[in-house]
Amino acid sequence: MSAALVTKNLRRSYDGREAVRGVSLEVNEGEIFGILGPNGAGKTTTLSMISTRIWPTGGDAWVFGKHVVKDVHAARRLLNVAPQEEALYPTLTGQENLEFFARLYGVPKAERGRRVADALEGVELTSRKDDIVQSYSGGMRRRLNLGCALVSAPRLVLLDEPTVGVDPQSRVHIFEAVRKLRTQGVTILYTTHYLAEAEDLCDRIAIMDEGNIVALGTVPELLGLSKTSEVIELRLRPPAERVEGLQAVEGVQRVEQSGPLLRLYTSRAEELLPRLWSEPALEGRIVQVRVSPVSLETIFIELTGKDLRDE
Ligand SMILES: Nc1ncnc2c1ncn2[C@@H]1O[C@H](COP(=O)(O)OP(=O)(O)OP(=O)(O)O)[C@@H](O)[C@H]1O
Ligand SMILES: [Mg+2]
Repeated sequence: MSAALVTKNLRRSYDGREAVRGVSLEVNEGEIFGILGPNGAGKTTTLSMISTRIWPTGGDAWVFGKHVVKDVHAARRLLNVAPQEEALYPTLTGQENLEFFARLYGVPKAERGRRVADALEGVELTSRKDDIVQSYSGGMRRRLNLGCALVSAPRLVLLDEPTVGVDPQSRVHIFEAVRKLRTQGVTILYTTHYLAEAEDLCDRIAIMDEGNIVALGTVPELLGLSKTSEVIELRLRPPAERVEGLQAVEGVQRVEQSGPLLRLYTSRAEELLPRLWSEPALEGRIVQVRVSPVSLETIFIELTGKDLRDE
């Protein structure tokens, strides 16, 4: 498999403060690769270096073998980016926006019509192509923003949080467009702070926090990093009373309590479960039990100490 993107120890400082602290990645051709991280993790800064919008202050990156600084023009021809901040002309129609970007990217005149039509089709905006962008919903604008990156027929597409603030229907369209690109052999680098999105869409995920990649792999590989493998969730009555002392019970790795819900992290749920009934702190208090495997969310909290839902 050939590499669509390689970064080695990529760094970027702003006024002496390091926003990206040595990112090394290898993305295979045809892969949907996710960068998952909270606000300020350094996702956009990483993408901006790869897309040659800003220079690295250290390290290297190659797009299909073309160095983003030394071969900048060659690298630029191979990639395109749908930025986090939309870049659209509100008084032009969807089609006119795409035509504008096709000209900007130097698409030969004879090919422009087909590229624009393909991009409209790809993001399912053909039926609204003659309406001005001002009249589009937020989700439609995000889709057009993605379409604008497609008119140059890039082999690597960088999508920076493409679903933030979009309606569920547009989210489905964006997912479909991304999956369709993969079937065409296009490589996708996708940033998000939505765990479920990374889990559903991405072949591999890098978890990023404070400028560093803290873990990288497929979802099963990331789940395997956890010290625990299951979560036992107990609903208790009376709801508000704290439960003490369970941390000491054999097989319990971590305890969390929020209101009536008690979560016990373990690698041996089937052994632990029967013992819980006779625990003095729980006796007569358990009204509901749920056992589930650890999620990407658990891994994220274990690795970063942060809860992405708070973002
Ligand atoms: N132009 C800039 N000048 C100074 N600091 C910057 C600039 N751009 C980003 N930063 C800082 O670099 C760090 C990483 O920012 P970045 O935008 O890359 O994060 P992010 O993961 O994309 O966050 P978000 O999820 O909010 O988009 C942050 O601390 C941010 O304040
Ligand atoms: Mg960002």
